[in-house]
Amino acid sequence: MAIFISLEGPDGSGKTTALALLIEKMEAAGLDFIKTREPGGSPISEKVRDIVLGIGNEEMDPRTETLLIAGARRQHVVEKIRPALEAGQHVLCDRFVDSSLAYQGAGRGIGIKEVLDINLFAIEDTFPDKTYYLDVPAEIGLARIAANKGREVNRLDKEDVSFHDKVQQGYEEIIAMFPDRFVRVDGTRSPEEITDTILMDILDTIADTE
Ligand code: TMP
Repeated sequence: MAIFISLEGPDGSGKTTALALLIEKMEAAGLDFIKTREPGGSPISEKVRDIVLGIGNEEMDPRTETLLIAGARRQHVVEKIRPALEAGQHVLCDRFVDSSLAYQGAGRGIGIKEVLDINLFAIEDTFPDKTYYLDVPAEIGLARIAANKGREVNRLDKEDVSFHDKVQQGYEEIIAMFPDRFVRVDGTRSPEEITDTILMDILDTIADTE
């Protein structure tokens, strides 16, 4: 059976590097999968991404941000994620619902439970089967954000240290809420080791569904 996988982590967790290598390894393993991302992933949802992450939209209210991302997620689930799973393709998603719980629920202070409720309306029962969380100490994550300033910077990257701390604490709460779905991966290890660990677990998970 096709499985739905998401990759999560705070900014600076090395997710982008790990994702690129993981895709290569999944292809080499012969897996039939699609790669997608949030916010975004479908044409309508990518337009919402531009609004939500756009520099210049600093006046956006946190609840507006939450609702827009949840709306984009709904479209992404219906238009892309579910059809792929139904066609037997695995789905690898760069961030999903847990990012909203951590960034909007904890980071923005709306509340994890409140943001979960809104997202349950958006995704219904389409939760990932496995969520890999790249775990890095806060100091390392923040140092990486600072070192990466040359890349595309979004509105949320510009938040201060206390926002990023709250996001990280939020992820800890979310992992405790969904212990069967989350796999914590040590983000201080090399990208090779990180992606080997994730690939092994993906292959085991697929084998368990067969
Ligand atoms: P990225 O840099 O991993 O592409 O993520 C884009 C930003 O969007 C990142 O700062 C986290 C943020 N984000 C949210 O705040 N809520 C969400 O639900 C998602 C999916 C992302």
